[in-house]
Amino acid sequence: MSDDSSVVRIFDTTLRDGEQSPGASLSVQEKIDIAHQLKRLGVDIIEAGFPVSSPAQFEAVERISEEVDGPTIAALARAVPLDIETAARAVKPAKKKRIHTFIATSPIHMERKLKKTPAEVLTLTGEAVRLAKSFCDDVEFSPEDAGRSEWPFLVEVLTAAIEAGATTLNIPDTVGYMMPEEYGRMIAHLIAHVPGSGKVIYSTHCHNDLGLAVANSIAGVMNGARQVECTINGLGERAGNAAMEEIVMALRTRQDVFRLRTNIVTTEITRTSRMVARCTGLPVQANKAIVGANAFAHESGIHQDGVLKARQTYEIMTPESVGLDSTRLVLGRHSGRHGFKARLEKLGYRLDKDALERAYERFLAIADRKKEVFDEDLAAIVGDEFRDVPEVYKLDYMHCISGSKILPSATVRVIVNGEVHQESEWGDGPVDAVFRAISKVSGFAITLDNYTIRAVTAGTDAIGEVTLRVRDNGHTVTGRGASTDIVEASARAYVDGLNKLAAWHARVAEQGADNVEDVV
Ligand code: KIV
Ligand code: ZN
Repeated sequence: MSDDSSVVRIFDTTLRDGEQSPGASLSVQEKIDIAHQLKRLGVDIIEAGFPVSSPAQFEAVERISEEVDGPTIAALARAVPLDIETAARAVKPAKKKRIHTFIATSPIHMERKLKKTPAEVLTLTGEAVRLAKSFCDDVEFSPEDAGRSEWPFLVEVLTAAIEAGATTLNIPDTVGYMMPEEYGRMIAHLIAHVPGSGKVIYSTHCHNDLGLAVANSIAGVMNGARQVECTINGLGERAGNAAMEEIVMALRTRQDVFRLRTNIVTTEITRTSRMVARCTGLPVQANKAIVGANAFAHESGIHQDGVLKARQTYEIMTPESVGLDSTRLVLGRHSGRHGFKARLEKLGYRLDKDALERAYERFLAIADRKKEVFDEDLAAIVGDEFRDVPEVYKLDYMHCISGSKILPSATVRVIVNGEVHQESEWGDGPVDAVFRAISKVSGFAITLDNYTIRAVTAGTDAIGEVTLRVRDNGHTVTGRGASTDIVEASARAYVDGLNKLAAWHARVAEQGADNVEDVV
């Protein structure tokens, strides 16, 4: 990592704070895939998880540390020996590793949550950082809820952290309470008053409760912070964290103001955003800056006219600069396996032999129905084949009848552990009928909590990608499916959810409910 003071380090916490978004749940394999993509995106540090919180979190951090070479891999730990020791074990295989330890410093957190005095918090800070330092050189310390902490106390705590060996000091506005001017002033004050500030990197970590996370992070950078903690699509606790794509593009677009740079390969932004949306099941709002579907769409006649004459009239950055070039035709129905595999690898997908074969068969079927197959189509097809749970249920066939004056009905054939099951049902629409028929086969009493569908590309022959959340016995999973037929895409997503629930039940039966948290 460069110590050039014109570089702003990007610390991506999509896999830790981002995964704390209500409704987001990522499997271990999905986290590994996202981590590989974050590496391609060029992030400096990946916060891979909070290892002590569950066996699945530990496994994800450890496997990312083993497999993802390039960025520093960080693990979160409270200022508690067990947390720090567990984090150290999880990041041990990483070539570049970091332990990120934190303790709350605001009066309300110390009194009501920790039930500790400021003096005790000060002692625990030094002990935690020293212990973390005994495992790895790169130690980050965060005074949680710094935004509502007293500045003189923050100075004391940060001084203790530096004395104990911290190399990065992260200043969280945990509850998204601060105003940009205030947050910037706080960073400047800490840098000026904490002895030894020159030896460490100051970092921002801003939540978006008042919609100011990006503005606050930028204010921090303008006042000397050289690391920004952020997430793809702005995911995170409650209203989320600062959106990485917005910070990076602001710094890049307004070079004239900041004269700073990041190591982000901006052309990977769109792909990363879509991958994270698909894996978390949390779609991006259409008008979201940089990665929303409308971010580069010009609707009014005056704007369209201006853009046709000179793009810069209404475009401050190009769609290509964020990797949005969906008009590119990549493959057709005559493309062979070799070309298909090569293109997938270019897009960052590494499928095993069986998954590749299944994806290729799907590609041929889709290329038959659809004239042009784009990168986005491939990502949707491959998303379906990225299964990291056994395929207990396999959709073999579905048929449905619907119309304006008939009762919609569906027949499905599902292979369950090699055995063929067929069921028919009616519903208040074809999707409902298909879901009811599949439920009958499965025997699960599933509740559908959420259902979204999006067209992957333009055109009436576009692939529809369905993301849904289903719940059984208090456990929620995300299912995904893609097809040019949206009822089939829905059925695939439902069956995907069933397979994840089946995997969860199998783990509970094997390990006991207490040991199985966010397995799938
Ligand atoms: O928001 C926060 O305070 C955090 C810390 C753990 C860094 O996420
Ligand atoms: Zn946070």
